[in-house]
Amino acid sequence: MNYIEINKKAYDILAPFYEEQQRQADAADHGGLFKLVPKLLKNGRMLGFHEIDASNYRKEILFTDLIAGQPKNPKMLDIGVAIGYVMRYFADMGYKTTGVDLSSRMCEVAGKISPESEIFPGNIFDRDFPAEQFDVITMMSLLCQLPIEDARELLERVKTWLKPTGCIYVSTSVEKNKKSGIFSKKTLGFSKLKDQKIQRFRTNYTLEAFIDLIESSGFEILMPFLIKDKSKTNRVFQGYICRVKS
Ligand SMILES: C[S@@+](CC[C@H](N)C(=O)[O-])C[C@H]1O[C@@H](n2cnc3c(N)ncnc32)[C@H](O)[C@@H]1O
Repeated sequence: MNYIEINKKAYDILAPFYEEQQRQADAADHGGLFKLVPKLLKNGRMLGFHEIDASNYRKEILFTDLIAGQPKNPKMLDIGVAIGYVMRYFADMGYKTTGVDLSSRMCEVAGKISPESEIFPGNIFDRDFPAEQFDVITMMSLLCQLPIEDARELLERVKTWLKPTGCIYVSTSVEKNKKSGIFSKKTLGFSKLKDQKIQRFRTNYTLEAFIDLIESSGFEILMPFLIKDKSKTNRVFQGYICRVKS
């Protein structure tokens, strides 16, 4: 099996567990971050990392919408949609939403969560979009699913699909060492999967290595985030809103 087939198999297994996790996160949600925005934004930029508690489940995507401004007939693309909650957010904000995911089972769930979105099951490398289509392109925990050369290649393609005024959001966990390979996925929080080893290809990034990937691929960081999951795993994630370097 190549790394794409390994990851497709892993996420087909994980789809119903992600769906349940999202249901629980929705039930526990305690409101948006819009209150914080005036403090965070200075001329559309932010200096230093903004720290978010992960119980505000992935709310950093809110800022992507603010940075993209208020385009007419806005469009967004989510790569690695999983169960589709990022598209749901943008659809609610009036965006025309498109998503791609390797796992057809994830796409089935995403179709329920965000029914107005156009969803393509399959490998993103088998897709093309017309040039300068999207105001926002999100890749949350997606680049880490690829070998570094493929992550670079994807960022190159993304540049062509993005409008000149558009922005991207990329994120991954913060790891101590940079390494790529096939690892067993930790299934913390999914008790029914405890005894099951789910193999997955992954590239682990340190802060420096992920920032280097972004900047050396021709993007500049507008807003960096550190997202801390204090509740379960103590893991820390890094996220960046970026635009193409002028
Ligand atoms: C870790 S999950 C992240 C999902 C979601 N973006 C989030 O942050 O919760 C990664 C998702 O990317 C999908 N994926 C991995 N490689 C892909 C590829 N080459 N093309 C499309 N989707 C891919 C997987 O199937 C999985 O649903």
